[in-house]
Amino acid sequence: MAKPTTAYVCQSCGAAHAKWSGRCEACGAWNSLVEESIASPPGGLEAPKSGAKTRTGTVEFAPLDSADPPPPRISTGIPELDRVFGGGIARSSAVLVGGDPGIGKSTLLLQAAAAMGKAGVKAVYISGEEAISQIQGRARRLGVSNSPVQLAAETDLRSILKALKAAAPEVIVIDSVQTLWSDSLEAAPGSVGQVRACAQELTRFAKKTGAAVILVGHVTKDGQIAGPRVLEHMVDAVFYFEGERGHQFRILRSVKNRFGPTDEIGVFEMGELGLTAARDPSAMFLAGADTETSGRAVFAAMEGSRPVLAEVQALAGPEAAGNPRRSIVGWDSARLAMLLAVFDARCGLRFGMRDVYLSVSGGYRITEPAGDLAAAAAAASALLDRPFPKGAVFFGEVALSGAIRPVGRLEPRLREAARLGFTTAFVPAGAPETVDGMTVHGLSRLQDLVDVLGGGSE
Ligand code: TYD
Ligand code: MG
Repeated sequence: MAKPTTAYVCQSCGAAHAKWSGRCEACGAWNSLVEESIASPPGGLEAPKSGAKTRTGTVEFAPLDSADPPPPRISTGIPELDRVFGGGIARSSAVLVGGDPGIGKSTLLLQAAAAMGKAGVKAVYISGEEAISQIQGRARRLGVSNSPVQLAAETDLRSILKALKAAAPEVIVIDSVQTLWSDSLEAAPGSVGQVRACAQELTRFAKKTGAAVILVGHVTKDGQIAGPRVLEHMVDAVFYFEGERGHQFRILRSVKNRFGPTDEIGVFEMGELGLTAARDPSAMFLAGADTETSGRAVFAAMEGSRPVLAEVQALAGPEAAGNPRRSIVGWDSARLAMLLAVFDARCGLRFGMRDVYLSVSGGYRITEPAGDLAAAAAAASALLDRPFPKGAVFFGEVALSGAIRPVGRLEPRLREAARLGFTTAFVPAGAPETVDGMTVHGLSRLQDLVDVLGGGSE
């Protein structure tokens, strides 16, 4: 029987199916299967044809311990970026920088390429999205036109690889991987097959030549373009650039890093001159003047080794008929639902049919369970219309039982809050009573938090 030459490839997860269906069986995405030509059947190694010669190499085992130095790094010239990369970008590595369109990926990487060029690193910037003149215009606006970066506008992978071989750069920026196109596949540019094949070729180029390859990848919410998620396992490191379009703050978050920590963030401000490192990253998500208002609480968060303070604001609407609205910005809706249920069951605090709005200021997104207590504080304060004392910070995980669970890195959170002028902290029980002059209240149950409000402002 003839081998099939096409397969239905899920544009979300990359799984190949022999038949079309409305839903990918591997990842559950709807309407994501697209027919693609395949050079060889998907799913790994081909069985050797009968009669064909097979070659068996020898595998040599190595000990765990190695005298080899760690892979050499290239500083990107942007300390905030180096920090997230784990001390500069590793040579021979391929990294993916993903993010929503328009968030600032091209800006950041052009700035990095220019800074490296200035420092004497041979940097190449290849764009498949913009014309040379557009990139030059941006370089002019950013004030980096005088850096010896080599630019190209090209999408054909074969031509790109040829040019790269000749130029022998140390750092290559590909903006974006979704625009590349390899003639070894018939699939359209941007399809999973193309994105994967092109990324594979470039990764191989990095390993072979010692260059560092930075791939830019767009993430689209509706999954129209093949998600860079299919590349995550292929590259050495994955970073996501995030932020709210309306705010000037941008966070570069590491989600995978074979050469460094994965929980570091870089914090930038988008301004007239492109992206600059935020001046006081721990304080920039605070909403402004610290006033005694109900419905607000400050969360003392940790992002990797960096403490960050962010304000959570909540509003409880009047009792209404129909389904109550739960609207959340910067936190998880499932977590809010859980929290409201715990309030109801363990504290008798009923949100019932009232709308609840919860928002984290400055475009910050709470990812830590430690954010529970701050969200709880804001919600309870909004419902009861009683404020917490001025200058208070909160952190702790709320369990379904209503218990406040301890969280890690208590001291750095409190120290940073104290440095920024906060005077009181509500934290899981077991903490020291004062830290850097700050009064620390240990809470063991969610009811303890409600009790604080009970005695609050009367
Ligand atoms: P861009 O880097 O093109 O985003 P991406 O590559 O992720 O799609 O950034 C686009 C936005 O950034 C655009 O809306 C304009 C804004 N911007 C500034 O605010 N200041 C600047 O100096 C530059 C270059 C862009
Ligand atoms: Mg771009």
